[in-house]
Amino acid sequence: MICRNRSVKEYNSFGLDYRAGMFASVESVDEIRELIDMKNECGSPYFILGGGNNVLFTSDYDGIIIHPAIPGIEVEDTSGENVVASAGAGVEWDSLVEWSVARGFCGIENLSHIPGRVGAVPVQNIGAYGSEASEVVDSVVAVNMDDGSERVFKNAECRFGYRSSIFKRELKNRYLVTKVFFRLSPGGNFNLGYGSLEAEVNRLGGATPANVRQAVINIRAGKLPDPAVLGNAGSFFKNPVIDSHKAGLLKERFPDMPVYIEGEGLAKLPAGWLIERCGWKGRRMGDAGVHEKQALVIVNYGKATGRQIVELSEEIKRSVCDRFGILLEPEVEVVGAI
Ligand code: EPU
Repeated sequence: MICRNRSVKEYNSFGLDYRAGMFASVESVDEIRELIDMKNECGSPYFILGGGNNVLFTSDYDGIIIHPAIPGIEVEDTSGENVVASAGAGVEWDSLVEWSVARGFCGIENLSHIPGRVGAVPVQNIGAYGSEASEVVDSVVAVNMDDGSERVFKNAECRFGYRSSIFKRELKNRYLVTKVFFRLSPGGNFNLGYGSLEAEVNRLGGATPANVRQAVINIRAGKLPDPAVLGNAGSFFKNPVIDSHKAGLLKERFPDMPVYIEGEGLAKLPAGWLIERCGWKGRRMGDAGVHEKQALVIVNYGKATGRQIVELSEEIKRSVCDRFGILLEPEVEVVGAI
């Protein structure tokens, strides 16, 4: 389906009403190839937009927005000790988690209720509550956006990092993910080390895939705003990873600052803590604001523009840099003119 001059309001979780010169929802590899031919002929810029849960539009987009809508969840292989399941790029991520949990499979229950589509999962290496997609992605099928050829990327070839992968760095915008294969486990091997997760699982009656999923849903609901109610894109910034020596010096000045060891002389600091300490939690600049329960989340109270959200994020960056000497990096991708 191709539409001209279409609003992207329904396709971005900040709920911003900008327009795409052309909007193409593609349901198969053949449709993607047709679109590639068209794009190559007219030389238009393009942007691949999944659920729009990690983007911030700041203006209309004068090119083609490609929305992968490839459906389908399949069990592919049960012969080994893991179950290999595949999902099309257009599948709602949480439907896949629900599907997996309903069958008693383990591996993605900690990633419950993360908004977005399967296609974005390896690109962004989504993560929450001590788990990351990189631990369960077996391989990724993607189409080359220049010539339409298909390529399978094994896990190691995806070069996963914290909220990152080859698709976000070296091959940015060069491949469109069509299908992802996941390695799930039929037996319980739960990851309950994060914060209050284990206590919540125990309160629900002990570790089962369904209880872990419910515990994560409960914890998320207490902190993270529902984008259907209050526009947001989850964490606006990444948690900064810095030299552990610098982290040690900061810890001397701010003894209550949480520090997570990242190995090899690196430490990760919670950006939410840094932002809260700069006094931003719950503050607003017009209709753009910092969420009152999680300072890492910027929200749209209704009429904020993309630019106003960027301006707020710049103010936050400035104050965190002035106070802690740390430069925050956005997790959200800004699309359009600034
Ligand atoms: N904190 C504060 N104030 C705040 C927010 C957090 O002091 O306003 C402190 C907390 O008390 C805690 C620490 O910061 O000590 C970490 O907070 P939290 O557990 O809420 O997680 P986070 O590091 O802020 C990350 C992910 C989230 C994910 C949670 C849970 C990133 C950028 N964000 O947030 O992912 O849900 O962990 O695992 O890594 C997302 O990517 O969009 C996202 C929501």
